[in-house]
Amino acid sequence: MLDEMNEVYLDLAQIVRLALAEQTGDVRLFVARLVRKYRNTEPELAEQMDLYLRAKTPRAGAAMRKTVQPATPQHALPVDDESRLSLLKVYKDASDREQPLLSADLEETLSQLIQERHQMERLASMGLAPTRSAIFVGPPGVGKTLTARWLAAQLGVPLYVLDLTAVMSSLLGRSGNNLRAALDFAKRNHCVLLLDEIDAIAKRRSDETDVGELKRLVTVIMQEVDEWPSTGLLLAATNHPELIDPALWRRFDLVIDFKVPEIPAVRVAIKRFLGPDFALFGRWIDILSLAFNGESFSNIERDIQRFRRALALGTAADADLIEEFIKSRVLTLDRQSRIDLAVMLAKQTRLSQHTISDITGVSRDTIRKYANEQPTTAKKTSKRRSDA
Ligand SMILES: Nc1ncnc2c1ncn2[C@@H]1O[C@H](COP(=O)(O)OP(=O)(O)O)[C@@H](O)[C@H]1O
Ligand SMILES: [Mg+2]
Repeated sequence: MLDEMNEVYLDLAQIVRLALAEQTGDVRLFVARLVRKYRNTEPELAEQMDLYLRAKTPRAGAAMRKTVQPATPQHALPVDDESRLSLLKVYKDASDREQPLLSADLEETLSQLIQERHQMERLASMGLAPTRSAIFVGPPGVGKTLTARWLAAQLGVPLYVLDLTAVMSSLLGRSGNNLRAALDFAKRNHCVLLLDEIDAIAKRRSDETDVGELKRLVTVIMQEVDEWPSTGLLLAATNHPELIDPALWRRFDLVIDFKVPEIPAVRVAIKRFLGPDFALFGRWIDILSLAFNGESFSNIERDIQRFRRALALGTAADADLIEEFIKSRVLTLDRQSRIDLAVMLAKQTRLSQHTISDITGVSRDTIRKYANEQPTTAKKTSKRRSDA
């Protein structure tokens, strides 16, 4: 009996806590749980609570779940008065969408984010809310936008993307209203909202445009990050973390770093982007992995698509394509990478040392020396260190 009372006290405390925090979505989830819990022991109470639950349609909708179908937008997408362009881009992807290429760390972080959403009741029962906001940081073309799409698809909700450059572009005087309209819309619907290129606001601050207006925009966003309901997920993305106002930065629950891939990941990416042409082109993969080192996924994909088109049309032999490509890449590589590449070309192709030297800018002597002496990359590295 005492245990039972304790239970009731705990439930009561929890609901008060959630209610005072105005976490309406969480309150609803929690009440739904109480209905089930008390159905047998206190059927009347359970029924009453169930009635309350049904009485009013939730403002922000029930929690996002995999099984929830994307709701049809409750209102038309907000548009800017003058341009009539929709401020929000909508993506509704199937949940079996291919996962982006992610580092192990990233995969783990995202997987927890998804788990939290699938087990919101469990979190709520321990007085916890799921991650409500996250900011994606990293150079262009490494999958920030793509991952937001994938994440939304995993959660079974649409992704709305608000490009802040677009919000800002035309009418500075009204961008505050535009922004608020878009954010309100996103809050009313089951969705993931991505504030893409969020640095656009900060960047413009340095221009001599209306600083007051920009400050208001940043303030609007800060409030929204603070108050975003845990039934939704607010994402932001930036290539320029250094431009983000620290006060805004602090407000995100989670910072997620996206990086350009390292050689093993480059290899996996090449393989994926080659698709069925891997059979034709795969023999160059070691060389390509080295040559693409330091490039973003989107640049790798673009070049691979170009190769595939050329192969399909039969306009060039694969060896010629590779040679051309390496010539163009060599300038961006550091000396050691060029040596690695030259040695690999010497070993894996029939190109003469003369040609390789031409392509890579590494002298024939050096190629010969490394090709004969260092069979593995590891050894090469230690050799380089002892040279230095
Ligand atoms: N991690 C990744 N896995 C697979 N493809 C990627 C990845 N990152 C980028 N791409 C490719 O490059 C394109 C642009 O990536 P995007 O997500 O827009 O980059 P970002 O938002 O970081 O600038 C994607 O549509 C996809 O084709
Ligand atoms: Mg992007």
